[in-house]
Amino acid sequence: MKTEILSVAPLYQPCMDRLEADFTVHKLSQAKDRDTMLADVGPRVRGMQAGGASIVPGSLIESLPKLEIISVFGVGYDGIDVAAAKRRGITVTNTPDVLNDCVADLAMGLTIAAARRLSEGDRYVRAGKWLKGPMPLATRVSGKRLGIVGFGRIGQTIAKRASGFEMQIAYHSRRPVADAPFKHYPSLVELAKNSDFLVVITPGGKETFHLINEEVMRALGPKGILLNVARGSVVDEKALVKVLQEGALGGAGLDVFEDEPKVPEALFAMDNVVLAPHVGSATHETRTAMGNLCVDNLVLHFGGKPVLTRVV
Ligand code: 8YV
Repeated sequence: MKTEILSVAPLYQPCMDRLEADFTVHKLSQAKDRDTMLADVGPRVRGMQAGGASIVPGSLIESLPKLEIISVFGVGYDGIDVAAAKRRGITVTNTPDVLNDCVADLAMGLTIAAARRLSEGDRYVRAGKWLKGPMPLATRVSGKRLGIVGFGRIGQTIAKRASGFEMQIAYHSRRPVADAPFKHYPSLVELAKNSDFLVVITPGGKETFHLINEEVMRALGPKGILLNVARGSVVDEKALVKVLQEGALGGAGLDVFEDEPKVPEALFAMDNVVLAPHVGSATHETRTAMGNLCVDNLVLHFGGKPVLTRVV
């Protein structure tokens, strides 16, 4: 009898094949009726595979009496009730580091796309507007001031990339990062005031909920551009729409949203906003590395060995 795993989020398919070779996997997203599946397999499930954006409430954890480990396919685990897992002595793992490069690449991509209006330019050419005249001028990226909100592993990788663009880098985090050669702003509003671009790469969850509020966006200002590659919850989306509509914020590049995949329709009409469907880590290379790490953690745990990337 193979160990039974509950999968509550999609996993990169080749890695799902690996998982299914070693375990019996019950896919909650494919269940005709979630409650029936949970009532049926819940008492036997010993492991869970989730995603970075998964919501795993305490009630779900409580309904799985034999659960030993939650392996998250993603670096973020803000949707997992970690306290409930801790109470039960359940191990929680994530997939850090292997996605730093791709998320940082996307942050730079969105920065350039929003400043140089690449999506608008693409629409401009396709619509035949170029035949009638050139597109209006855009905004330079190189040499500008980049504020990074959250200076963990991905934030620091963004800083490396931005250094190549000769940007003046500063950051906001709860504590200054030792040996970081960039200015630390204890005040987020001050950082925003002193930035042309503000890129958000903090963890999600209660502590950072609506950290980027109207005051911060107004401080960034009518020429400033906000980039979010973290979690939708970190930016007050209603306030974002409002400041963009007023012209109090210059533009935005967004990979994540408060209620994704739902995106506020007001943003669709804004040419100064670039939208992406939460694809920070979505390359074959990175999803392979994330998926393998996610599966490795389960294999190691059930083989009686220490997991590789434990968060709880
Ligand atoms: C993925 C993410 O989209 O790593 C994270 O926290 O949000 C993304 O990399 C997600 O984990 C895939 O399920």
